[in-house]
Amino acid sequence: MSGTTPGSHVMRHHHITIATGGAQEDYDFHTKILGLKSVKKTLFYDGTNPIYHLYYGNDAGEESSLVTTFPMRHTGVKGQKGSGQVSYVALSIPTGAIEYWKDRLTEHKFSVTETERFGERYLDFEHPCGVNYTLVGVDNDLRTPHTQGPVPAEMMIRGTHSIGVSMRDSEFMEEFMQIGWGGKRVTDDQNLIRYAVGDGNSGTLVDFVVEPDRKLGSWIVGEGTIHHMAFEVASHEHQNELKFFLEGLGYTDISDVKDRGYFDSIYVRTPSGAMFEATVSHQPSFTCDELLENLGLDVMLPPQFQQDKESLISQIGYLKD
Ligand SMILES: [Fe+2]
Repeated sequence: MSGTTPGSHVMRHHHITIATGGAQEDYDFHTKILGLKSVKKTLFYDGTNPIYHLYYGNDAGEESSLVTTFPMRHTGVKGQKGSGQVSYVALSIPTGAIEYWKDRLTEHKFSVTETERFGERYLDFEHPCGVNYTLVGVDNDLRTPHTQGPVPAEMMIRGTHSIGVSMRDSEFMEEFMQIGWGGKRVTDDQNLIRYAVGDGNSGTLVDFVVEPDRKLGSWIVGEGTIHHMAFEVASHEHQNELKFFLEGLGYTDISDVKDRGYFDSIYVRTPSGAMFEATVSHQPSFTCDELLENLGLDVMLPPQFQQDKESLISQIGYLKD
């Protein structure tokens, strides 16, 4: 296949979605330790059990700044880490902020491991529920950080840099990335293969970790695992073209368009096992139901939960800032 395909509509990361443990623990980790802004508090749109869907990011919750979570300890549903799954998220920090973050995380009792991959410096650590996070030093990441949080803006996280996808074999996922998802193979480092979509900058990268002997991880929304990675497409037209193109290639494990309140999404089960999403932000997005200055303060309910808000939230716990 040659020339430009609808795969090239995939622009960059939009958000990552992670199933975590306790809601307050998750909220404090992201807003007080990582210093991200609470951009939206809503509930999980699928299913009937109330589970928070918490969005964290920069001041306006711009695409590729977003980490989103389903804190679900109250459900008792646990995930299993393994291959066939997004296995870590790397967040971009300025190279000059590495020592600051190493000290900050260590002071807050996180166990930090310094590593180097693709010539980049990483600080690996875990969310309190065990999900793997890492901070990576990146020069010239021009994305705007959260400016009003506990971390000085010059040290602050810029957004997602890359994700790691664990898989046992790379062959068919490489085909998916190159043809279906419009990616380019950028570089390798031992058992790591880096792909980029869009302009290839921080916030567009997908790193595959080839682990032939690693047991498969779970696909459910289960505590302690990353559920999926979302990528931005510019318009519904591009989203439809991408969906029909992927179906035509035979990737029919792809959903219809789902309205997530702030964006419209399609989900595809990739040959790696990991779930990817292609999403179009609504215009306006997070400011459709809250003013910019109030973003992330109140809990905004999705349609199926438009009933007694107080009793719903009492089931999942009120969050304290
Ligand atoms: Fe998502």
